[in-house]
Amino acid sequence: MNVSHLECGACGRGYEARRLHNLCTECGKPLLVRYDLERAARSLTKESLKDRCADLWRYREVLPVERDENIVSLGEGWTPLLHAERLGARLSMPRLFIKDESQNPTQSFKARGMTAAVSMAKELGVTKLAVPSAGNAAGALAAYSARAGLEAFIFMPRDTPRANVVECEQTGAHVELMDGLITDCGAEVARRKEAEGWFDVSTLKEPYRVEGKKTLGYELAEQLDWELPDAIIYPTGGGTGLIGMWKAFDEMEQMGWIGSQRPRMVTVQAAGCAPIVRAFEEGKRFADEFPNAATVASGLRVPRAIGDFLILDALKASGGAAVSVTDEELIAATREIGAAEGLFCAPEGAACLPALRKLLAVGQIREDERVVLFNTGAGVKYLESYGG
Ligand SMILES: Cc1ncc(COP(=O)(O)O)c(C=O)c1O
Ligand SMILES: [Zn+2]
Repeated sequence: MNVSHLECGACGRGYEARRLHNLCTECGKPLLVRYDLERAARSLTKESLKDRCADLWRYREVLPVERDENIVSLGEGWTPLLHAERLGARLSMPRLFIKDESQNPTQSFKARGMTAAVSMAKELGVTKLAVPSAGNAAGALAAYSARAGLEAFIFMPRDTPRANVVECEQTGAHVELMDGLITDCGAEVARRKEAEGWFDVSTLKEPYRVEGKKTLGYELAEQLDWELPDAIIYPTGGGTGLIGMWKAFDEMEQMGWIGSQRPRMVTVQAAGCAPIVRAFEEGKRFADEFPNAATVASGLRVPRAIGDFLILDALKASGGAAVSVTDEELIAATREIGAAEGLFCAPEGAACLPALRKLLAVGQIREDERVVLFNTGAGVKYLESYGG
């Protein structure tokens, strides 16, 4: 067990490991897990990875679970990093890649966060987990809770894609659909959790989902032979994956695996819900709530993110960017990626392509650079958006 303590991402206050925590009790911001990386690096070496399991638990020493028997797994992570040659050729980009997260259990990258969060909940004796979700996090929580024999209570907007609702029901979760947005669902969980005895696993309101998501950063580095890409384009809702990757890069540098160079981190949001893009353009560290949030990319319909400052800090420190794309653009991109590469992307993942075009057009990304797009989920979950 290499966790040394937890630390507030805003005020730096320290918290004891091996206890249940939500937000910082001092300032209400997210807590991050800190490791004794010197110790972790003794057994976790680039060489040792060659013989390890083909899932995200290959990075065991930098994941928070203490005892192996508490790991709740469905075979998540270690997804392919596909060289997008045909799509790249259209853009004159010979080094374009897609990290295909639709190949995770429950068909999205939310599996990474939930394997870590549910394993930790099990280890710390939690029996009832509650989450507000745009859809995919709900499906993942339902599945991992079932796998662990724990109860899941799920709150989603009524117009969440139908597949997400059905998958939760079929994996035994309690599902409530609400009129409103994910923020309204979050408020409902907060209002009822104490009386109901639920542990709140809202993204970044518990410290472990981001630990599962950070493995995206470890995998990227390993799959690119320890040379990070020039830019990463990431569809951002709550931003957990982006924050996680940024954390992973620091951890890898501290373990001596990579240097100080970082990819430019790019946030993509839908024009109908772009609080981070707006804050980035205005040079703010915290984002205002985005009014009347609307987009078919349901995972991007997050009008307010508690980790906003962590996202914006990473964008700024990396010399990155924040771009919004319209629903028409991202829906058209799904077919373009599908026909070129054989991937039926989630609309959130497809949004990376029009964002890339915009950055190429203004010279913020060059054609010869190595760029990774994140397909965070599976198009089959969104048939309503594709005329199905
Ligand atoms: C497919 C998909 N992509 C992207 C996101 C946004 O993820 P994050 O909250 O890590 O920014 C979500 C969130 O629901 C999602 O389901
Ligand atoms: Zn704090």
